[in-house]
Amino acid sequence: MATPSLLLLLLFFFLFLFSSNVAAKQTRFYRSMSPTSLGLHKEKLTHLHFYFHDVVSGPNPSAIIVAQAQTTKNSPTLFGALAVSDDALTVGPEPNSKVVGKAQGMYAFASHNEIGLVMAMNLEFSEGKYNGSTLSLFGRNPVLKKVREIPIVGGSGVFRFAHGYAELKTEWFNITSGNAVVEYNYNNISPSGEAQPPPFLFFFFYFHNVVNGPNLTALRVAQAQTTSFGAVNVVDNPLKIGPESSSKVIGKAQGMRLGY
Ligand SMILES: *[C@@H]1O[C@H](CO)[C@@H](O)[C@H](O)[C@H]1NC(C)=O
Ligand SMILES: *[C@@H]1O[C@H](CO)[C@@H](O)[C@H](O)[C@H]1NC(C)=O
Ligand SMILES: *[C@@H]1O[C@H](CO)[C@@H](O)[C@H](O)[C@H]1NC(C)=O
Repeated sequence: MATPSLLLLLLFFFLFLFSSNVAAKQTRFYRSMSPTSLGLHKEKLTHLHFYFHDVVSGPNPSAIIVAQAQTTKNSPTLFGALAVSDDALTVGPEPNSKVVGKAQGMYAFASHNEIGLVMAMNLEFSEGKYNGSTLSLFGRNPVLKKVREIPIVGGSGVFRFAHGYAELKTEWFNITSGNAVVEYNYNNISPSGEAQPPPFLFFFFYFHNVVNGPNLTALRVAQAQTTSFGAVNVVDNPLKIGPESSSKVIGKAQGMRLGY
């Protein structure tokens, strides 16, 4: 039979264990784990093929412009417009084709000189073994080009650790209504294996952000009433070899910048 002092000792022991556990939880937010426990030993290439329906007009649009700059209405390329989408993904190009998922996210018109979108979207699938799994894509979409390529930056569910790219081709585009159907071909690797490390490159350039003057490269399209926290800017900033405004342009940084 345990004596009261032994009981007390056991109680302290458990209290100590408990408190050291709490301390461990408070100071550590990481632990190492085996990659194979997450299925990282095998690599599987999946090809997905579907159509993306972007309906921007009519009684039931699936993509809506939520913000734009004051100058956007005068821009032939809609520079500064920001849209939120819940677009259907279907097996065929017809409007009544079977829906296999949704493309939920944002796209911004982020180019001065062409209709060029920056897309930040999650594709959520609703069919069979893909039901509930998502792929995240982030990239540049110059919509009038015949073929565009957008990186897949990750995924969830059966697409955990996914990476790959999507090739987009416009199936049809109605210039009057703005509605479009786009064919998506995805080459997707998931889960990733031991990929070759990419070659190491060092880039060096200047990012020119012009927020004053006649030709702005960054436009404020939305903001909170009180602070710069919450500001949304759409940018098409030139990347130049040097800091001078006359310096040679070697690229563009097109996208969104959020103030926080
Ligand atoms: C997909 O999953 C949801 C939620 O689990 C379920 O309600 C739905 O019936 C599933 N759809 C298909 C086609 O399996
Ligand atoms: C294009 O959209 C307009 C406006 O909604 C519509 O009247 C027209 O029929 C559409 N054209 C085609 C080829 O679908
Ligand atoms: C405005 O600036 C952008 C970015 O530098 C450039 O591409 C565009 O041609 C300029 N537009 C005009 C009208 O100067």
